[in-house]
Amino acid sequence: MDNFTFYSPTYFVFGKDSEDQVGEYVKKFGGTTVLVHFGGKSAKSSGLLDRVEASLKKEGLKYVMLGGVKPNPRSGLVYEGIELCRKEKVDFILAVGGGSVIDSSKAIAAGVDYEGDFWDFYSGKPIEKALSVGTILTIAAAGSEGSPDSVITKEEGMFKRGASGDAIRPKFSILNPALTQTLPAFQSAAGITDIMAHLYERYLTNTGDVEVTDRLIEALLLTMKHEAPRVMADPNNYEARANIMWAGMMAHNNSCGVGRSQDWNSHNIEHELSALYDCAHGAGLAVTMPAVFRYVYKHDVMRFAKVATRVWGCQMDFDHPEVTALEGIDAFQHFLISIGMPANFQQLGARKEDIPKLVEVLCRGDGREGSISGFVTLSEEDCTKIYEMMV
Ligand code: NZQ
Ligand code: ZN
Repeated sequence: MDNFTFYSPTYFVFGKDSEDQVGEYVKKFGGTTVLVHFGGKSAKSSGLLDRVEASLKKEGLKYVMLGGVKPNPRSGLVYEGIELCRKEKVDFILAVGGGSVIDSSKAIAAGVDYEGDFWDFYSGKPIEKALSVGTILTIAAAGSEGSPDSVITKEEGMFKRGASGDAIRPKFSILNPALTQTLPAFQSAAGITDIMAHLYERYLTNTGDVEVTDRLIEALLLTMKHEAPRVMADPNNYEARANIMWAGMMAHNNSCGVGRSQDWNSHNIEHELSALYDCAHGAGLAVTMPAVFRYVYKHDVMRFAKVATRVWGCQMDFDHPEVTALEGIDAFQHFLISIGMPANFQQLGARKEDIPKLVEVLCRGDGREGSISGFVTLSEEDCTKIYEMMV
């Protein structure tokens, strides 16, 4: 196991009706003037925003509202949010929504007191200072409720990049599984896929002897395998929603990733797809991961064979472990298809003729020098072949 530090100070409030206490938590973490940031329509139409406003009013907090965050959140609304916060002297950002709303909130929080362009943080500058952020999560997926990360799409050029820093970790996150019961089936499935991707991207490691985190990841993958079909069959299954929601947080606050190298090639390859085609991040991952895994599995056949036997119930073929490894990848892809995820470029809405452009931005964008690295280093030629496997 490698040396590591682990710092995850978010205060979690989990359970039914927990959002009704949001005003108390904003106060507890020092907020006086709040930006309530939200998405397109779900938070409004479910009545959630009304309850949030009532709780803020009850605590005597001032607030302004800014909606309109789109999935794969854009830089334009971040600039608007930063201006609004400066004008209204906002000192706390409350995200009401999914990963996109939370990431947009984090970007605004980082930008308000920064004199330069907030995009500097998405070009490699670490975030050291930000307004406080709190969240009310409405979809189990990105894990942004417990992570120090934010992913934004730059509208000039339509490419997606991440920024990171403990300063943007949410001070509190309110997780009520019942809020996720209004999700369309496709969004539930995309979220489940993203959670499983966060687990796989950590499982694919070059660090040896990491049994505790391997076992944690396997447990969470098994939980997802068990709970996902229950939610797809009955969207109102509170207990299954609850298990998925907490798994989504655990998958990405890095408790399963400490002390080990991690992959993230699938995420990097996918981010170009959701930036260019505006597809759901989880749907893009459902197409990306099987291709990446089939391309790289020979780098560590036994690791893929291990997840195949421990999670997907495959029989170990000791004479031909590569067969077991591939069976596990097939089983994972069948699972993703069974919950309604796409299997190829066509189903995702991606185009073969764009592959050179995707590879160029992926491997040359933002100072990259012709490759991406993770579990294995992938050259432009490798990435081209991987995208071609998705067609
Ligand atoms: O805008 P509304 O109307 O709210 O609709 C949203 C949106 O269309 C809808 N939705 C959310 N909660 C709902 C609901 N509809 C009905 N009922 C509810 N309770 O779901 C759609 C997707 O929402 P979004 O926030 O985009 O989903 P998700 O949480 O998957 O976030 C995706 C974004 O997170 C980034 C992705 O790249 C993508 O931009 N990621 C962020 C990470 C992080 N910050 O740590 C890590 C991830 O790997 C990921 O890259
Ligand atoms: Zn993700």
